[in-house]
Amino acid sequence: MRTKVFALYNNKGGVSKTTTTFNLAAYLSEKKNLKILIIDADSQANITELFFASDPSFWDSSHRKTSERR
Ligand SMILES: Nc1ncnc2c1ncn2[C@@H]1O[C@H](COP(=O)(O)OP(=O)(O)OP(=O)(O)O)[C@@H](O)[C@H]1O
Ligand SMILES: [Mg+2]
Repeated sequence: MRTKVFALYNNKGGVSKTTTTFNLAAYLSEKKNLKILIIDADSQANITELFFASDPSFWDSSHRKTSERR
């Protein structure tokens, strides 16, 4: 099994690191049929929230569509 590791880094805050990671993972999973592991090492846990938020209103329609297919 070939494994590739991607890391998105930018020292500036609020520039779409989390959003891009989420969408890249969703794209590679859904469109390329790859198995994806996201490691959330951020104490804000924003991407974990994106995937597992209990309040559905937290998610926009594209996020909900992604999670419903899992
Ligand atoms: N392409 C985009 N178009 C419009 N809004 C966007 C886009 N990408 C991200 N955002 C919005 O910008 C805000 C910051 O995005 P995000 O949380 O992904 O940034 P971040 O770099 O991970 O921030 P932090 O430094 O706090 O971890 C969020 O409200 C997100 O919804
Ligand atoms: Mg972030």
